[in-house]
Amino acid sequence: MEVNVKAPAKINLSLDALYKREDGYHELEMVMTTIDLSDRIRIRKIDEDKIVLKASTGMLPLDKRNHVYQAAKLLKNQFQITQGVEIFIEKNIPISAGLAGGSTDAAATLRGLNELWDLALSLEELAEIGAQVGSDVPYCIYGGTAFVTGRGECIKQIADIPQCWVVLVKPRAGVSTASVFGALSFNKIEHPDTSGMIQAIEAQSYAGMVSCLGNVLEQVTIARHPDIDRIKLKMMQFGADAALMSGSGPTVFCLCEKYSRAQRVYNGLKGFCDEVYLVRSLK
Ligand code: C5P
Repeated sequence: MEVNVKAPAKINLSLDALYKREDGYHELEMVMTTIDLSDRIRIRKIDEDKIVLKASTGMLPLDKRNHVYQAAKLLKNQFQITQGVEIFIEKNIPISAGLAGGSTDAAATLRGLNELWDLALSLEELAEIGAQVGSDVPYCIYGGTAFVTGRGECIKQIADIPQCWVVLVKPRAGVSTASVFGALSFNKIEHPDTSGMIQAIEAQSYAGMVSCLGNVLEQVTIARHPDIDRIKLKMMQFGADAALMSGSGPTVFCLCEKYSRAQRVYNGLKGFCDEVYLVRSLK
């Protein structure tokens, strides 16, 4: 028996940090949504009582450093499973990019193993296990559009965003989330309008959603990688409705209501950026 699970990337439409907590994490308020850029996780049973990872790229560690391995191991230990599995990661989402690629793979692994091992766990239970692997994993268990708070473990699903097109550019640099949060200074923070974002989405106002895009981590990552600002500017010059960095970066995305406009932005950026994607927003 084999299970095949889709693991979509996320973008942050809003990312706000309220304060640094005593446990070292930041108290967050975010609006996240999934996009049609996905990895695939294929899991099959094997005779040996082991977790074996394989991947379509040589860029991933295939041992306990991988979030997929950590998620599978936690579930296996918690439910004393002796059935081994081989997990194949088909990688399409850029790595260390601010798109939750590792977290969505871990979340898809938990959903897939829940089925393969007949555990019948609820999404809430899977999200609780996922939170031990990483802060973005609980959101990735649910997907869709959500208001995410706490460390990342409090998920409130909201309406789907108005259908639009997303063009993404992944600059060459990889970014460490811990280092970006570590350099965030609360003196000069510009908070995004997260409640305005939620209201706009609930009202299905594309214009409202576009005007409320914001991410407090942009200032930190842009100071280190000024090309992010240049890409945002190019996106707007080619006709995007709004552009923003996702998560802790460095990926930049822009939204376009019309496909023809998105194509123009995509083609324009292709001229001088290596990694450019044009995808749909996902429900
Ligand atoms: O939970 P995860 O390991 O994905 O987080 C990576 C890093 O991002 C943490 O070590 C922490 O430095 C930072 N972080 C934070 N506040 C959060 C989530 C992550 O400061 N709510």
